[in-house]
Amino acid sequence: MFKTIEWTEDGVRMIDQTRLPGEEIYRTYTDYREVAEAIRSMVIRGAPAIGVAAAMGVAVGIKNSGAKNPAELRADFEVIADTLAKTRPTAVNLFWAINRMRDVFNHSLSCHHTNAQIIDMVRVCLEEEAKRILAEDIAINEAMGRHGADLMPDAGTVLTHCNAGALATGGYGTALGVIRAAIGAGKKLRVFADETRPFLQGARLTAWELAKDHIPVTIITDNMAGHFMKQGEIRAAIVGADRIASNGDTANKIGTYSVAVLAHENGIPFYVAAPLSTIDMSLASGAHIPIEERSSAEVTHLQGVAIGPADVQARHPAFDVTPERYITAIITERGVARAPFTESLRALFAQ
Ligand code: MRU
Repeated sequence: MFKTIEWTEDGVRMIDQTRLPGEEIYRTYTDYREVAEAIRSMVIRGAPAIGVAAAMGVAVGIKNSGAKNPAELRADFEVIADTLAKTRPTAVNLFWAINRMRDVFNHSLSCHHTNAQIIDMVRVCLEEEAKRILAEDIAINEAMGRHGADLMPDAGTVLTHCNAGALATGGYGTALGVIRAAIGAGKKLRVFADETRPFLQGARLTAWELAKDHIPVTIITDNMAGHFMKQGEIRAAIVGADRIASNGDTANKIGTYSVAVLAHENGIPFYVAAPLSTIDMSLASGAHIPIEERSSAEVTHLQGVAIGPADVQARHPAFDVTPERYITAIITERGVARAPFTESLRALFAQ
């Protein structure tokens, strides 16, 4: 199996998701600015994977810092954190991971040693923390799979949108992790992967990783989902999330909202699978979630080929917000939350 991202002696190594499914190419970055650019350009993407990449970006940045004392190291930390934080605004895991690294940084800096010892210790602690965030993410996804598997039908087709799989996380996946766990438990599932225009995460990435795992997958274009639901071909829909507000409103890849409304209209359960690190309890509702607007060239061009007249504008919000009323349940590593989400999500955090 491939590794989405890993820490190596040579630097942060990740599979280049812009080149899949055609080529399986790995890139190794030794400069935090390269890691930031990899996140921005979507060499690595998916909320939990972005968090892991940011943590490793901080660790590699501090590893290569020329700081001679704690004050200089702190100044470097802030520049590194700021550069990584500016890459993508919607997935809250990015900020969650940077904050976790900041806590470790502050803690290890407060020890009383010589400057050289402190700097060495901060380096080691940040590297350990980044590796821990990766290992924990995989374990969290497996736990989510155990909680969510029961919600999947015993047999039939499940629809997913975008890629919430091993490629979008440290490994195993959130939504695809639940599907993997259900299949592991003996359920006879097939997957419809929405193509997911404009970046084609469904056609390129979900189809690639499921096929590699011998899970039956069929690509459909985004506008076919309603038709197949009406025909009775889809038993459930399951997606990941980039940020969930405290009331359950969920930001995920553009087009998720349409899938949720169509599922509701057709009486099909619509599930969100996400770790607690994707839940932003500071936001009262999805109205406050920042939505990334990406380059219109990603809409007007398919693999470099223009698909519309050169002088016509395009819009490209990369995410939309699904109101909580369309969500049947939110599957987390601590269990399954159902409406009213304000209470059920708070209870999960209190566990
Ligand atoms: O723009 P992307 O590819 O980073 O968007 C990814 C998604 O919307 C995923 O569904 C989400 O991050 C959950 S990944 C487990």
